[in-house]
Formats: sequence, C-alpha cells, structure tokens
Amino acid sequence: MAAWDIEIFQAVWLCSFTRKLDVRNITQDTAAGSRLGQRLTIEHLLDPLAMTGGTDAIAGLTQTPKTLPAKYFYDDRGSQLFEDICELPEYYPTRTETAILQEFAGQIAGMTGPCELIELGSGSSTKTRLLLDAYQKLGGAMRYVPVDVSAEILQSSAEQLIADYSTLQVHGLVSTYEMALAALPPTQLQTRTVAFLGSSLGNFPPDKCDAFFAQVIGALAEGEYFLLGIDLQKPKEVLEPAYDDSQGVTAAFNLNMLSHLNWRFGGNFDTGLFDHWAFYNSEQNQIEMHLRCLRSHSVRLDALNLNVDFAAGETIHTEVSRKFELKAMQEYMEKQGLKTLKVWTDAKGWFGLILCQLEPIN
Ligand code: AVI
Repeated sequence: MAAWDIEIFQAVWLCSFTRKLDVRNITQDTAAGSRLGQRLTIEHLLDPLAMTGGTDAIAGLTQTPKTLPAKYFYDDRGSQLFEDICELPEYYPTRTETAILQEFAGQIAGMTGPCELIELGSGSSTKTRLLLDAYQKLGGAMRYVPVDVSAEILQSSAEQLIADYSTLQVHGLVSTYEMALAALPPTQLQTRTVAFLGSSLGNFPPDKCDAFFAQVIGALAEGEYFLLGIDLQKPKEVLEPAYDDSQGVTAAFNLNMLSHLNWRFGGNFDTGLFDHWAFYNSEQNQIEMHLRCLRSHSVRLDALNLNVDFAAGETIHTEVSRKFELKAMQEYMEKQGLKTLKVWTDAKGWFGLILCQLEPIN
C-alpha cells in the first residue's frame, strides 16, 4: 500500500470513522477464472496493520472502573472464536434466529422484492444464505454487500458465496459499521435492505444505539428496508450459561481481547493473570462481561505510551449484551421513521426479527 494510502486510513481511523471516504482501497479478485473475479470486490476501509487510534483504549483503561470497547474482540482470532460461540449448545441466539430465517426468509424476500442486501457484521454469512436462497428464488440480479472488520472471514465467505450462487455479485467492505454506513458503494439494484442480525445491536450502549440508527436512516433512501434481529428478555438461567459456557470458548473470546491489544498496541498483557466473568444484570436487562485481574501487576502498551496498574480483583468491563422487548423496540424505531412491516419470533419467544421500511421524511 502506498504511504499516502496509509495516511488516509490513519486519518479515517482517528476521526471516528464518520467521514465519507473519497479514496477507496479496492481489490477486484481476478484469481482463477476471471468470471469469478468479476463478481467479487473486496474494499478495505480499515488498515489492519496500522497501530493507530487507541484513544478509546487509553480512555477506558485509565478510568475507574476500567472498560474496553467491544470492537477489540474482533481481530481474526476473535472473529473465529465468535463463530465457535455460535455453535455452542448453550448459545441459543444463533440457532434460534436461524430457525426463524429457515421458516420465514421467503416471506421477507417476498415483502422487499429483489434487492441489494447489505449485511452489517456479516461474519461467515451462514444465516445470510437463507435470505440469499430466498432472493434467488425470486429471480433476477443478486447483489450482496457484507461488512465485517475481519478481512480473513469476509474474504473466505465471499469467495464461497460467489462459488455457490452463480448470479451473485459480492462487494465486501472490510470495515466497522460506522465507516461502512458512511461509505456504502453506489446501489446497483432498484432497492436495498440493510440487515443487522444476531442481536449485535445489543452490544451498543443506549447512546451509541441512537447514533447507529441515525446512520442507518442516513444510509437508506425512502422506501428502503431495515431487517433487525434482536435477542429478547428471558430467564437468567438460560442467559448466563450462554455467556459462560462449559467449554470455555466465551472465556477465550473475552481474554483474546487482551491478546488483540498486545498485537495492535505493542502491549504485554499476560492473559493468565485475568479470568472471564459474565452475569445477567436484571435491572438493566443486559448480560455484562468483564475480565477480572487475579493478582496485582502493571501492563505496558508501547504504541499508546501507556502504563496501567491493576489491583487483585479489579475488573475491565468488556461487553454489554442487552436483551430487548419487541414492542419497545418497534416503538423506538417508529419514532425514528422506521415503520414496522412485520415481526417474526420463535415458539418460545426468545428471539425476534423485525422488518421495517423507511417512511417518507417530511
Ligand atoms: C455479537 N454479539 C451479538 C454477541 C452477543 O451475544 O452479545 C457477542 C458475544 N459475546 C459473548 N458471546 C457472544
């Protein structure tokens, strides 16, 4: 990458991903058979190697109690660990949402009609295949814009999709949600659906949630669609094991955040000096995940020029996973101009999918 490219990406990283990008780092995959290559574009809005930014990590590690933004879960290993979490017997959200999509993807596609599908936090795109199958049945052109911070997962799942769907065009964005929503590629089909599945919305604190919806609405044209998957409130006996599984995969996912910081910011966190702590806060209706320090010590992050002291028992708050109520979420979205077209849930009422449409703005 040219030096000026790096400067542009660093500037983008530092200005909180809100600016519309005017320079794009695009790879058109021309490998093995150019017909395949012409249907696959991967655009890198993030520079995975830049040891820049980190003001949020500094702010979080110097406050009391300490916190770290959940975005630091998702380096390539963290993204893979999250895929492993989705397969765990205790982690019901993925299975439950998949079952809803298996039953109703055809209805969803029928309601939006053929459209460009943009997916925020696409990961392996496994559930998305159910929607793509439904759109394929409608016939016509198919275009998918997956957005993920992990270049590795995005690239491999996009290649697989191109191989499996002969008429599909994929334009992947290696990006945060914020950067992607500010820099979506021009629409090529008559309408678009932005999908935000897996209850990733639950990982935003309420103030970030408002900013996120403002960006989604800014990215949609009138009449376009937003498909949201949310995890619903349920007994703590179901929720807590989902975030503290018997195989320790969620613990590894939580601890991997420290390894990611070591790599990104030249740190020396010893993951053996922390353990995973997750519980349901029933007043706030949210799972909270923390890393708890086992004995007092100091950590150095060279690239941030930061020393952090930890006392035994001290915690770093790494994630909230909010659990929602369908009615309240619909009202919240309607206030912002996203009118609910239809809601689907599973038989136990554990997970919800809401399809909405952006109303005309007066
Ligand atoms: C990505 N997100 C919706 C997951 C969740 O359930 O909040 C992240 C996760 N954290 C621990 N397990 C799963």
